Amino acid sequence: MRTILWLLLGFAVPLLVFSVSITCPHGKKCQLALLSKTDVFLYCNSSGAQWFAYLLQSQTNWSNKPLGAWDTEIMPEGILLRSPLPSQTGYYICWDKKGKLVVQYKIDFQDVDTLHITHRGLGQKPLKNETLTLGSKEIVFTHWEPWQDCNHCGEPGERKRLGYCYIQNALGKPVPCWLYLGNSRPQNSRMRPEMQIEACYVQCKALTVENIIFDNFQLDEESEFAWLTCPLGSIYRPVVWEADNKALSWKDQLSGQEVSTVLDPSSGGAQLLVFRPAVYRCFVQQQMRAQFNPRFDVDALELLQREEAIRQQEAEKVRKPKTGSPKGLKLLLLWGTGLGLLGMLLRLFCPKRRKKRSQVLLMK
Ligand SMILES: *[C@@H]1O[C@H](CO)[C@@H](O)[C@H](O)[C@H]1NC(C)=O
Ligand SMILES: *[C@@H]1O[C@H](CO)[C@@H](O)[C@H](O)[C@H]1NC(C)=O
Ligand SMILES: *[C@@H]1O[C@H](CO)[C@@H](O)[C@H](O)[C@H]1NC(C)=O
Repeated sequence: MRTILWLLLGFAVPLLVFSVSITCPHGKKCQLALLSKTDVFLYCNSSGAQWFAYLLQSQTNWSNKPLGAWDTEIMPEGILLRSPLPSQTGYYICWDKKGKLVVQYKIDFQDVDTLHITHRGLGQKPLKNETLTLGSKEIVFTHWEPWQDCNHCGEPGERKRLGYCYIQNALGKPVPCWLYLGNSRPQNSRMRPEMQIEACYVQCKALTVENIIFDNFQLDEESEFAWLTCPLGSIYRPVVWEADNKALSWKDQLSGQEVSTVLDPSSGGAQLLVFRPAVYRCFVQQQMRAQFNPRFDVDALELLQREEAIRQQEAEKVRKPKTGSPKGLKLLLLWGTGLGLLGMLLRLFCPKRRKKRSQVLLMK
């Protein structure tokens, strides 16, 4: 464990920034694929808007009175779908007060739990095109989004891109798979969203230090792990974690070289599963967002001190030290630092104006 002596100070900011917000022009119908489990905000600029949804799989209607079974929130500017499920694939229609269509979204929430992940640096290949015979001759293929930015700057990083399952028949335009299939759900292992990763390197731009969150974590006593969540991190944004100043990579994880942490694929690595105490830091869009310090509870500390005392006694039996063991002292100091940091949340940096960095997808 490295000694982290600089004081860990920060401030928690309540941030209402959507991970992804979708805008479709007034009066238009827009079609797109997204991933399940990540919150989505659908924009509808109309006061007193009414929302209506038609779900393809269950062929059910849903309107904003009553509020449906899932976690949704209707706001003046649109609707927030929290952790959408693949079964929420369908049409989302916004009407104004007079019952006139403002905007319609056709959204395919592709199942992120089936994400096919490949790393170029490991020679892994994305899924190949496949021919289906549903009605006419259809092709299933992956429609790739642009590469996201490199997740780190000034040192080797990684970047990812998302790919969605699309179907194209001989005549028509490509359509996201489950919008094409409607309520039929054929078993097909090709029909999955994808995530591709590759190494990258970029120089750092002038970075501003703002809104960094400092927190403590403790491994669960029984399971011996903890989940850490990077604020503002999402599968739609570049995220990177460091454990004791060493960057964690998808490459190490996918090749089985890193076993003390697991980047959660369904959040694009915004959530991290950790199995050992260390100082974890995360960066979103190359900016440091949070630092998590291990918290040792007092019992564990006492236990460690006692163990250390026993070890010292035993060592003294073997050798004849002139003075007390400096190693024990150093350890105590180290843990003393850890304890002193417990629960500390102070303000060091002046809060700058909050930057709303929510990703906006503009659609034709
Ligand atoms: C929302 O609608 C209002 C009234 O129609 C308009 O003035 C405003 O510019 C719109 N805002 C956006 C972001 O489109
Ligand atoms: C859903 O709404 C549409 C349009 O209002 C209607 O035609 C259809 O019958 C409804 N379906 C169900 C299952 O309620
Ligand atoms: C897969 O199919 C898509 C859509 O038809 C096409 O654009 C793409 O070039 C195909 N890729 C390969 C490798 O054939």
